[in-house]
Amino acid sequence: KTVAYIGAPFNDGQELKGVDEGPKALRDAGLRAYTMKMGFAFEDWGDINPHAPSRYTTVESSTSLKGDSDDSMEGEGEGEAHGSGESAVYYTNVKNSREVGRACKKIHDATQHAAAEKKFVLTIGGDHSIAAGSIAGLLTERPDLAIIWVDAHGDCNTPETTPSGNYHGMPAAHLLGWFKKLVPGFEWMQKVPTLPENRIAFVGLRDLDPAEKDMMMHSGVHCFTMQDVDRYGISKVMDMALSKIDPEGRRPLHLSLDVDACDPAVAPGTGTKARGGLTYREVHYICEAMAETSRLTSMDLVEINPLIDTPSEDLHGDDPDIKGTQTVRLGVELIASALGKTIM
Ligand code: ARG
Ligand code: MN
Ligand code: MN
Ligand code: MN
Repeated sequence: KTVAYIGAPFNDGQELKGVDEGPKALRDAGLRAYTMKMGFAFEDWGDINPHAPSRYTTVESSTSLKGDSDDSMEGEGEGEAHGSGESAVYYTNVKNSREVGRACKKIHDATQHAAAEKKFVLTIGGDHSIAAGSIAGLLTERPDLAIIWVDAHGDCNTPETTPSGNYHGMPAAHLLGWFKKLVPGFEWMQKVPTLPENRIAFVGLRDLDPAEKDMMMHSGVHCFTMQDVDRYGISKVMDMALSKIDPEGRRPLHLSLDVDACDPAVAPGTGTKARGGLTYREVHYICEAMAETSRLTSMDLVEINPLIDTPSEDLHGDDPDIKGTQTVRLGVELIASALGKTIM
């Protein structure tokens, strides 16, 4: 089995510098040697450079909408397409949208390519924006894909509901087809299959914006909050989540893991912390349960910010084969668990 490592050193989906250093920090932590020791072949596909032309065949798509742009939506955030002769209607309030969209297209091309080669596709952020690219590419190649999205946040805002304008709070909504207009830079998303709502389950939720919460509650997505983790325990939550998104146990599975799902005491190196999160063992259990299905074929690990991370000297019984700060080390360990590492 081969792991394809795709670095997405990308921070334009939120405000804080440093999350773009995730891919390098995980390499420096010794991820390659660690996975090879576990018996995997490791292919480093390099980093997606958001500012350079694609190394993959990127077709700059036109801006024509799926179907007819019949629902003429008026209101704020509306603008005309730049450099487009068509009258498509655009959202204009997504920060850095052209850069985010361009980078996500490159990530899409890379994950699609790696999935076509039947690799375990490991995409390392970067902020959670990258999941719009990685999951779009995976969905194109594996249309029956089902997703466990582990996060303190829903990432289900649309440009209409976002309180911040930061795209990392929106990628799930975008994949679900909840955007009513185009986003500059993301025109290519029109050609990507929409993720059916019943094919995604969120685990670890505790910090939702009011309108976002409302949309999630009234949609077909499956939500497991920290209260559910308290009530049922993480093992029951994972059983329930998996049976919702994949009742027959036959779909390829994707794990989109935002480290801010963990309690800040466990994962201090992340930009949008929310207390009351997953314990060290709970987040490992999620990865172990995904590995146990034997159907986990891809993973995103996002929002690790090495620049604001805590040194790891004070950690007890740490694995000597992993180097780096606390949250970076946790990242390597979680990847190992998702690849099938168990305690016994
Ligand atoms: N809900 C907030 C927003 O829309 C925070 C999102 C945090 N997302 C993340 N991937 N850490 O801005
Ligand atoms: Mn940039
Ligand atoms: Mn997230
Ligand atoms: Mn989050």
